[in-house]
Amino acid sequence: MNFTVSFDIVGQVKAAIQAAFLPTLIALLRNPILLIRPHEVSRIIMAHVWRLYANGIDDNARPTKEKLLPANCYGVVLDIGAGHGQTALYLDPTKVTKYVALEPNTLMHPKIRITAAKNGFTEETGTLLILPYGAEKISLITSAFGGAHAVDTLVSIFSLCSIPDPEQTLTALVNDVLKPGGTLLFYEHVLSPREDVARWQRFWTPVWIYIMDGCRMDRPTHLWIENMDAWAEGSVWGKDDEPEEHLFWRRAGRSVKKDD
Ligand SMILES: C[S@@+](CC[C@H](N)C(=O)[O-])C[C@H]1O[C@@H](n2cnc3c(N)ncnc32)[C@H](O)[C@@H]1O
Repeated sequence: MNFTVSFDIVGQVKAAIQAAFLPTLIALLRNPILLIRPHEVSRIIMAHVWRLYANGIDDNARPTKEKLLPANCYGVVLDIGAGHGQTALYLDPTKVTKYVALEPNTLMHPKIRITAAKNGFTEETGTLLILPYGAEKISLITSAFGGAHAVDTLVSIFSLCSIPDPEQTLTALVNDVLKPGGTLLFYEHVLSPREDVARWQRFWTPVWIYIMDGCRMDRPTHLWIENMDAWAEGSVWGKDDEPEEHLFWRRAGRSVKKDD
């Protein structure tokens, strides 16, 4: 793999540290107890890093999201790891009855409200629900919906890279949260099929995890999804014009759950 490409990430790490260092330090000085709560510190860092990257990443992903989301999202949409809620901007409000943002980092919640409202999804009208849970908290999620199988469309955009026990969590979300006949839509950076690129992804992952709240660069998420036997149909495709030598090699997909 080209040496320059394998070290492209250094600039991003540097920019992320610059964006998060001072606000995180101030938060630690104000509340030193955070020193014994590394997970909370990680979320503070992520909130500041995501402020830096959210719009640029959304711009870059727009052609794929425009193909994936407006045509395929309907009914109750559960957005796993909603971030700033940018998925809401791609939803057709005549087809989507409720946008549910699953976002454990509560520092992101004010942004979700602002973004979702731009497309008419608000808590006041009952068309927006923010759940402060991780995707792995399946029983809390089903309780929030008042029972299992309440979601028509499950969406994950660059989030399955961060959730713990991803295969188990994904299976539980599809089995217990998604309705029979419901749809899973995803757009994720995944483990490259090229061994030289994959080696660099594994090399950088321990650094990236700290900056991006647990985000791993080395997960074959698209293969896990393709191999689940829950689907009646499914397809996976790549990002147009993406070079093979890319540390954040991306795959998008749509899978429809068996209607039993
Ligand atoms: C890279 S951001 C993507 C945000 C958004 N999906 C987007 O594309 O704009 C990953 C998001 O996953 C969230 N996240 C981290 N751990 C999670 C978990 N266990 N369950 C659900 N979301 C999680 C992070 O807080 C963050 O908002």
